[in-house]
Amino acid sequence: MRAVYIHIPFCKTICSYCDFCKMLYDPKWSQKYLIRLREEIDDLYNGEEVKSIYIGGGTPSVLSGRELLFLMETVRVFKRSLNCEFTFECNVDDITEELLSVLKRYGVNRLSVGVQSFQKENQHILGRHHEFSDVESKMALIRTYGFKNINLDLIYAVPGETVKMLRDDLRLFLKLKPDHISAYSLMIEPNTLLWKEKIRPIPEEIDEDMYMYICSFLAKKGYKHYEISNFALEDKESRHNLTYWNNEEYYGFGLGASGYLDQIRYTNTKSLTKYFDGEFRAVQELLTEKDIMDNEMMLGFRKIKGICIQEFEEKYRIKMEDAYPIKPLLKNGDLEEKKGYIYIPKEKLYVMNEILLKMI
Ligand SMILES: C[S@@+](CC[C@H](N)C(=O)[O-])C[C@H]1O[C@@H](n2cnc3c(N)ncnc32)[C@H](O)[C@@H]1O
Ligand code: SF4
Repeated sequence: MRAVYIHIPFCKTICSYCDFCKMLYDPKWSQKYLIRLREEIDDLYNGEEVKSIYIGGGTPSVLSGRELLFLMETVRVFKRSLNCEFTFECNVDDITEELLSVLKRYGVNRLSVGVQSFQKENQHILGRHHEFSDVESKMALIRTYGFKNINLDLIYAVPGETVKMLRDDLRLFLKLKPDHISAYSLMIEPNTLLWKEKIRPIPEEIDEDMYMYICSFLAKKGYKHYEISNFALEDKESRHNLTYWNNEEYYGFGLGASGYLDQIRYTNTKSLTKYFDGEFRAVQELLTEKDIMDNEMMLGFRKIKGICIQEFEEKYRIKMEDAYPIKPLLKNGDLEEKKGYIYIPKEKLYVMNEILLKMI
């Protein structure tokens, strides 16, 4: 079964670090955007059952009440599997009774909230401002509406951050009892405000120490580390995101969205003008069997449990060790094998890219 990603590129403000496909919310654009989005979906979706829907952004929660209803009516077209995971990304400020009741009514069963950090110094750099008490009351409100699967996004390794500040953030995050945490090291991407202001990233060693700290802190609190940046309580792994890491197919709708259908990987245009003209796709590439196999390795090794050797070999009709230099990497400790899975050991996840380069 395929998954569905829908991109809503509008935000109330633009954060200093953000490189996502986004723009300031303006009803002049958002209404037309939602109409085109519906057309794109109607053109491409073939009516099959889907296992997850993820509405991300940008900030989908920035939409007005009427726009949200229009979007939710659009999404009703998807035939959902029995336990379809349906995620909606929210900004803390937008979480209201009105929003939650609409999301609940239309079957959203997972919320992802961008909290990032409670440390004043970090917030100043990131351009975020949430007080712990605000987020705490929003979490309580979310729970009164019966949502039982909540992710919080955390950003660490902000210039000037110390391990003590990170520990304080982790403690506060856990007080909110999220079911899932995505923890991202701050990337200073070209053309963002941070980049223009020539803010330098934190030294690599501190970044690595912080990563290791997060992994051990969350493990002690019962959060399973299941993907490089993702941690979940029992059975709360993001099924939608696992679609990507399992190299399975998914629809991508909306400005700048990517998708993977019938062995074609595509990316939509990031130009609103072209999107409005119905020129949805910007690039697409038909993958060869070798490309697909390489992707399986690059994406699969992001999962902590790694890749199932038998499944790989049945899918590609080739022994993994004949396709990739697995044996020397097992020998030097870059890879390990357990219970039929091959994986990058936790202490080497930080240098995953170097290991993948040796392999592919
Ligand atoms: C596209 S944002 C959507 C969430 C929502 N718009 C918000 O900001 O609350 C998804 C997440 O990516 C992470 N993110 C975005 N830019 C990043 C960067 N440059 N470095 C690290 N994490 C980043 C943030 O944690 C953010 O919550
Ligand atoms: S981090 Fe979220 S709110 Fe900030 S600009 Fe990016 S998408 Fe918008």
